[in-house]
Amino acid sequence: MGTMDTKEMRICFVSSVVSEASNVRVFLTRLAHLTVLVSALFAVSGLTASTATARVGNIEYADLPRAIQQRFAGEGDPEPRFSGYLRQVERDTERRVAEGEREHLIYYALQSTRFTRRARIEPAVSARRFVESLAEPERTRFLDDAGGVPSRGWPEAERARVADALDALKRVTTDARLSYFKQLMASGDGSVSVDGLYADYVRVARFLYKKEFTSGVTAAEVAPLYQTRAHSSDTQIEAGFGVYLGLGVLHALEPGRRIRRVLVVGPGLDFAPRTDLIDVVEPQIYQPFTIADALLALSISAEADLKVASVDVNPRVVRFADAVARTPVTLHFFTGVIETREQPFSADYRDYVRALGRAIGTAVRAPPAIGADKRYQHSIAVREQVRRGMSAERLNIITERVGEEGFDLVVVTNVLTYFDDRQLALALANIAAMLRPDGYLLHNESRAGLVETAASMKLPVLQMRTAIIGGPVSRPLYDTVWLHRKTRT
Ligand SMILES: C[S@@+](CC[C@H](N)C(=O)[O-])C[C@H]1O[C@@H](n2cnc3c(N)ncnc32)[C@H](O)[C@@H]1O
Repeated sequence: MGTMDTKEMRICFVSSVVSEASNVRVFLTRLAHLTVLVSALFAVSGLTASTATARVGNIEYADLPRAIQQRFAGEGDPEPRFSGYLRQVERDTERRVAEGEREHLIYYALQSTRFTRRARIEPAVSARRFVESLAEPERTRFLDDAGGVPSRGWPEAERARVADALDALKRVTTDARLSYFKQLMASGDGSVSVDGLYADYVRVARFLYKKEFTSGVTAAEVAPLYQTRAHSSDTQIEAGFGVYLGLGVLHALEPGRRIRRVLVVGPGLDFAPRTDLIDVVEPQIYQPFTIADALLALSISAEADLKVASVDVNPRVVRFADAVARTPVTLHFFTGVIETREQPFSADYRDYVRALGRAIGTAVRAPPAIGADKRYQHSIAVREQVRRGMSAERLNIITERVGEEGFDLVVVTNVLTYFDDRQLALALANIAAMLRPDGYLLHNESRAGLVETAASMKLPVLQMRTAIIGGPVSRPLYDTVWLHRKTRT
């Protein structure tokens, strides 16, 4: 059985799958029944598919580089079948987003103290108790991919918390998370019960148990877990550190280069994470801001003409990312990892965190509700000009692209890991098409074959860097960032 405590989980999330799997046994301190259709999610978010501008379009076979066309043809999806394949990817994505939203509700119901006085339940601890309460052969069957839903039903404490959460959703609230879940649950058939969420809890328990507590889990075993799991919008500031270092490399390679148009694929939203929920502040969208901050701090961009566009398949994320241009934003920075004597931050990471946000705004006082949270760093009121340069829309990076070529930089972290190899190839083709010649791609996906696939679409890798976040020297926590540049011809 795994010996990791709950502190170890968020780190697993921040690292890419390969580094996760290879390091998970190393340092890994801490630091991550489908009834609601995606049409309902669109309704909840106040978005409609038509919100996406006409510039966003589905790809066609003819849009693909020759190497990718040949690959799809060789794998049984030549041109006539390609649109059917894309439709299947869209359907799967919608299901994964919808399942993910219900999983976020489970995480919220187990951890939040805003609607109940019952003790918080750490989701991974709950998963372990649940799985270990199953007798053989049911346990083995459950952990198989075709595991089904155990007949034992909800554990008592978990059931009680979820019941309290559903009761809270019946009341009037101004809390952003409760309001969202209230609308989400009302948008199905309106009659969600605790038992109606049992299958979602079971899915959560299976994923967390397999990821955190299955001994000897290898990179090859972790990868399919992510490639098939429900979509999560979890995000932490640790993801920004590798991007910052990657941008430093870009600046060193081309000191005169100016970045004006940036695309963030899958920015995520810290809303109801699978561990360490912090809901004393509003949901936090970090990535568009931390990228703008890094670009301004490194003098790669000028505030006056910096445009940061975000795209995501989750309408909730898109709604939050889109609203920042119109609404004053104060960011509250929390680290995912707590620095301790045994597991200190690296000097570079500590410097990164101290400076975070200071190039895009002004430090303001912490909200009193944050109290003595050890993860809290500081709060930044973002300048209006910075946030007005931001925009967001729904786009599936596997099946869609924006019709014009022209981004100077695309950043995609902790997203590609959710795709299988074919989906990854299409995502890279779409990213390559949206970059201008000489444009850069930054990502943290260390998967075998990615470099070759990217090179086949004129997106060769330039540099790779390891971003050491902290931990003992013998077992550091790190992320790996890859910088590609699109060739001119
Ligand atoms: C785990 S979060 C990562 C957030 C952030 N990039 C980070 O590193 O902290 C993954 C995000 O990617 C989005 N996503 C997943 N599949 C996507 C796709 N096919 N196209 C666009 N966004 C996608 C999810 O909705 C989610 O917001």
